[in-house]
Amino acid sequence: MKLKNPLDMHLHLRDESMLKLVAPLSTKDFRAAVIMPNLVPPLCDIKSLKAYKERILKVSNDNHFTPLMTLFFKNYDEKFLENAKDEIFAIKLYPAGITTNSENGISNFEIETLKPTLEAMSALNIPLLVHGETNDFVMDRESNFSKIYEKLAKNFKNLKIIMEHISTKTLCKLLKDYENLYATITLHHLILTLDDVIGGKMKPHLFCKPIAKTYEDKTALCELAFNAYEKVMFGSDSAPHPKDEKECCGCAAGIFSAPIALSVLAELFQKHSNQENLQKFISDNACKIHNLSFKEDKIITLDNENWQVPNEYKNENEKIIPFMAGENLRFQVKS
Ligand code: NCD
Ligand code: ZN
Repeated sequence: MKLKNPLDMHLHLRDESMLKLVAPLSTKDFRAAVIMPNLVPPLCDIKSLKAYKERILKVSNDNHFTPLMTLFFKNYDEKFLENAKDEIFAIKLYPAGITTNSENGISNFEIETLKPTLEAMSALNIPLLVHGETNDFVMDRESNFSKIYEKLAKNFKNLKIIMEHISTKTLCKLLKDYENLYATITLHHLILTLDDVIGGKMKPHLFCKPIAKTYEDKTALCELAFNAYEKVMFGSDSAPHPKDEKECCGCAAGIFSAPIALSVLAELFQKHSNQENLQKFISDNACKIHNLSFKEDKIITLDNENWQVPNEYKNENEKIIPFMAGENLRFQVKS
């Protein structure tokens, strides 16, 4: 099977020795990826963002990979955004404290407060990526964020709003109600329910935000992805954490899936859909939504060949356990 220009529309690459370990593994199968800004401290200025981009390019080991950079949302003025526009792909909004490194996020969702920045973003055609969760009961956090998505969609009709890593049937439906709402879907939310995470022995490597939910939620997500609904895009939300920070009391949220994502998607789409829809989900939908094109194409070949996911990935400082560690997969990516 061949795929043209696979895109990961939501990727965490971290920094320093973790970046060195995960960047080559996370970028090799993709033509481009949207890079998350939740570093410590978060990326809020163009100088830091450009320097981070350089560090990514240096270690990704691939001339055919483009990092699409994002800034961490705060109330920026118009002049700043005008200057930033050419360096960034989008701005990512996190509610304060809702997930890893989001302490500097937003706690006031009043329209009047957000208006200057969001109007400037609309005018400059800068998309808004949103981690949509409230502080409520964990299974309701995403559905309860619908009110905020609706408020944003209604008040900023020209703003392209991407609901990131959707995990509920509520948001699958909301996506169809507003023209300016789009969504990314991860691999793990197409596979897992809460039962896989805590139904038997607790599995810290399957713990992520938003948490995997019910069977009905998963079915709704699969329906959108496998039919390559035009407003959804693949975004792995591959979020590596050191092994000791996953296998401990107070496990960090995040699943490291990027190195196996394409291989597993090929298997899922072969079983439940077809290659044409995978091409749309993995690339064409995002290219249309964001008007993306590439000077040189990257064609990825997947062969029907069994291989085993490594039990861990490591370098001299870091050790990470990938999603589906030790499992056998049916498609192998050929370089
Ligand atoms: C992400 C991380 O570790 O940075 N964690 C996660 O569980 N997905 C942050 C995020 O996208 O919520
Ligand atoms: Zn994420």
